[in-house]
Order: sequence, then structure tokens, then C-alpha cells
Amino acid sequence: MTPQQAINQQHNHVGLIGLGPMGIALAGALLKQGHSLTVWNRTPEKADDLVSRGAHRAGSAAEAVAASPVTFVCLDNYDTLYRVLDATGTALDGRTLVNLTSGTPNEARAALAWSTERGIDYLDGAIMVPPPLVGEPEAVILYSGRQGAFDEHQKTLRSVGGDPRYLGADVGLAVLYNTALLEMMYATMNGWLHAAALLDSANVSARQFAELALGWFMPAVVDYASLADQAPDLDAAHYPGALGTLEMNLNALQHITRTSEEQGVFSDQPRWMQQIAEQAVAAGHGSQNYLAIYELFKKARP
Ligand SMILES: NC(=O)c1ccc[n+]([C@@H]2O[C@H](COP(=O)([O-])OP(=O)(O)OC[C@H]3O[C@@H](n4cnc5c(N)ncnc54)[C@H](OP(=O)(O)O)[C@@H]3O)[C@@H](O)[C@H]2O)c1
Repeated sequence: MTPQQAINQQHNHVGLIGLGPMGIALAGALLKQGHSLTVWNRTPEKADDLVSRGAHRAGSAAEAVAASPVTFVCLDNYDTLYRVLDATGTALDGRTLVNLTSGTPNEARAALAWSTERGIDYLDGAIMVPPPLVGEPEAVILYSGRQGAFDEHQKTLRSVGGDPRYLGADVGLAVLYNTALLEMMYATMNGWLHAAALLDSANVSARQFAELALGWFMPAVVDYASLADQAPDLDAAHYPGALGTLEMNLNALQHITRTSEEQGVFSDQPRWMQQIAEQAVAAGHGSQNYLAIYELFKKARP
């Protein structure tokens, strides 16, 4: 039997390195789906409960990866990842590494280069759900890298997230999508939190404000303002100002900053949005609509 045939025979076996809150959730999902799971963690006792549920505890990271054709790695950062994987020697050769450690697109590309040099098939992933949702049918996990690796291990990938999304061969794409979506989340959260702080300055509770803000206004922004319908305008750089110009929106942003100051609440956030609009106006987009801000966002600051 060739070494590759020996690896292929371990078809239901999965390795997992890293047992933080996310690693433990991944392990639980893999066990639930009936995989033969071998785990390794710097602090071995974190595997105790998993071992009682049928997981094998490896004595080293090399032992963990050698037990399976595919190994997930879920560590705190890339320094740790290299520290741990460097110690596996040649044990990963001919096997697949699915890296669910958060980082940047360049870190994912460097990890692909590191893996390719060692004959390791590499897939990068980004988990879009918190640990309790791992393994659930609606759990979205983003992947990028070689499509063959995604296709070959799709059944295993589906065990940790019922909705795995393959985004393309550029291995940096999964983490880039992840970063973009998280930015949307934080920007939206900050919008809601600052708006609630404005109302709090007049003794209106967040619960009271939520009915109008989240029950009516947010869905209206997404649906009636048709953000999805406007996406082709972004691709075409088409920003007609007939129904409202960026200059007009700048006026509104100035009102938000001034109102925040008057009400005695934190005014940096609206002022920053105001300054962004001012830069777009200075760049010649004043008579276009608000979407023209996109032109500013697409370039690094001069
Ligand atoms: N938790 C979430 O909600 C969530 C959601 C999406 C993505 N993620 C990503 O998933 C990854 C893991 O997150 P996590 O929540 O499980 O916890 P974490 O605190 O980011 O990572 C903990 C893991 O890293 C290991 N580790 C840290 N320093 C180490 C070292 N010097 N040598 C060896 N191992 C070391 C820990 O081992 P010990 O147990 O021995 O300390 C543990 O296995 C991160 O990249 C995170 O961004 C997490």
C-alpha cells in the first residue's frame, strides 16, 4: 500500500488542533456526526470531556495530524499556528489542512505557501457563527483555496457547519469576506448604539427606542432604500443626484454632530462620518448621491 492509499483509508477520521471555545465546539460537532476524531491541545485536560465522548487524545500535534487525511486547526493566531505546526515535521505531507484560525488575507496566503512547500493541501476558512451554532444546519463557514480540496472534504466540512460556502481559488477570500461582514456588523451596531445614546440623553430608554429604530427604521433602510438593488450602481460607479445629493447628506451629517454636542453625548462617531462626506465632496462628488462615498472608500487615503 502506498502512503497516499494509507491516508485515503482513514476516510472518516478527522484531526483537530486547538481546543479553545471554538475548537471544543468544532470537536463536539464532529463527534455528533460520527467522525473518528483525534484532538491535540497545548493544555491536554481541555480534551477530557471530549475523550469521555469518544475522541482520541493525541500525545503530540504530529500524532494528531497523522491519524487523519484532514485536520482542522483553530488556534488564537498565526504565530501559534506556525509554532504548533512546525513541530509536526513531515506528518502533514499528502494530507489536507483546514485552517479556521482568524487572520488577514496575507496571513492566509503565507500559510498556503508554507503548506504547498511541504506537500500539504491547504484550505482557508472563516467561521461566521459563535460556538453554540457550530454544526447547526444554518451555520455558515466561508472557505477559499483549491476547489478540489473543498469538494473532496465537503462532507466533513458540512459536519462543522451545515452551510459551507466556497468563495474562490484566491485563498485570502474567506477571511476578506469575513472581515468585510464583521465591519458591516460593527458599523451597524455602532449606528444603533450611538442613536440609542442620543435618545438616552432625553431619558428615552433603549427598549422604547427599539420599537421604531429596529422594528421599522432598520428594515426600511435595508428594504425601501433597496441596498441590494443599488449594488449594480456601485459596480457601475453610477451615482445620479437627482433625488438627493451628497451635499444635502453632508448637511444631515452636520446636524447629527451638532445635535450630539448639544445633547452632551459622544460626538466623534457622527463627526467622523461627516468628515468622510466632506472628503468625498472635496473630491468632486458633491452633486452625486450618497453612494458616491464608495469611490472614496475604494482607495487608500492619499
Ligand atoms: N470564539 C468565537 O466566537 C469565534 C468565532 C469565530 C472565529 N473564532 C476564531 O477561532 C479561533 C479560536 O478561537 P477560540 O475562541 O477557540 O479561542 P482563542 O483564545 O482564540 O484560541 C485558543 C486556542 O489557542 C491555543 N493557544 C494559545 N496560545 C498558544 C500557544 N502559545 N501554544 C499552543 N496553543 C496556544 C489555546 O491552547 P490552550 O487551551 O492550551 O490555551 C487554545 O487551543 C480564533 O482564531 C478566533 O478568532 C472564534
